[in-house]
Amino acid sequence: MRVGILTGGGDCPGLNAVIRAVTRKGIIHYDYDILGIKNGWLGLIEGRIMPLDFEAISGILPRGGTILGTTRTNPFRVEDGVGKIFSQVEKFELDAVIAVGGEDTLGVAKKLHEKGLRCVGVPKTIDNDISGTEYTFGFDTAVSIVAEALDRLHTTAEAHHRVMVVEVMGRHAGWIAVEGGLAGGADIILIPEFPFDFDEICAQIQKRRERGKLFSIVVVAEGAKPQDESLILQSGETDAFGHVRLGGIGNFIAREIEMRTAIDTRVTVLGHIQRGGSPTAFDRILATRFGVAAIELVHDEKFGYMVGLKCGKIVPVSFEEALAEPKTVDAELYEIAKVFFG
Ligand code: F6P
Repeated sequence: MRVGILTGGGDCPGLNAVIRAVTRKGIIHYDYDILGIKNGWLGLIEGRIMPLDFEAISGILPRGGTILGTTRTNPFRVEDGVGKIFSQVEKFELDAVIAVGGEDTLGVAKKLHEKGLRCVGVPKTIDNDISGTEYTFGFDTAVSIVAEALDRLHTTAEAHHRVMVVEVMGRHAGWIAVEGGLAGGADIILIPEFPFDFDEICAQIQKRRERGKLFSIVVVAEGAKPQDESLILQSGETDAFGHVRLGGIGNFIAREIEMRTAIDTRVTVLGHIQRGGSPTAFDRILATRFGVAAIELVHDEKFGYMVGLKCGKIVPVSFEEALAEPKTVDAELYEIAKVFFG
């Protein structure tokens, strides 16, 4: 068997661990030829494909990013993109493709599988918003980075009696904000699932001041929005999957808080720092388990499925189930976070 692997969409800590696991498991247990496809779906359109062997994957487990490179290419938006993919699959004699990515990359995998590509998926995103899996790798690393940032910001917030607004990633879902905020002791957490009210935020900050807490930490997911208002955008530009570029909600909130409370307020946008660097041990292990399981899916010819984590076990999840809708933060978890508001 000749098995191709690609990484698509935003990079994420743990991608290299998946590539390493797929390569080792494929070669050692099944004597497969493993081929790395460069730069996501673009590499399959262009035929940028390289063999992966033990030498190629040596030392990559702790490395962030992806040795294969990535793009947000949507073959369905490229002229004859799909036709070119099928030609390259034939030319390179690929028996199967493993697509490692989030909703967009896996969405392409699903459509190509429906057209006959023998494809399996591995869910990746720091946002943790893919259905059918309790966790995606990269999320734990992002949460740890947010928690550490909050610990550091607490000291300055307290010393200067300030409000610190911290903008984190999370387009459709506030998992990073809620779990990072819980781990770092945030005083208010705002997420896309529950539009917020400025009166309530300011009341919580005032309540804290009344009991002698002169500082507050507000964590906001980039996709959060005020009640009755739309998303705050960095630009109206959309990518190949129709997503607008988010960013700016932190500054928007900080201005409003300062205006309404007259408390000195500062903003930190964590941005791509949350996606960079070495994966946590949890993410290395999850990514490794996913990679090994992806080869098993290929071996069992279970195409049209991704690997997922359910009740501690790695199980096959159909693309339909995974992509039906984003996995958002449930009210129960947000209620726990709210115990610590104000
Ligand atoms: O999907 C993961 C993610 O990190 C989102 O949270 C964020 O909106 C987006 O990627 C940012 O993407 P880019 O790297 O293109 O700025």
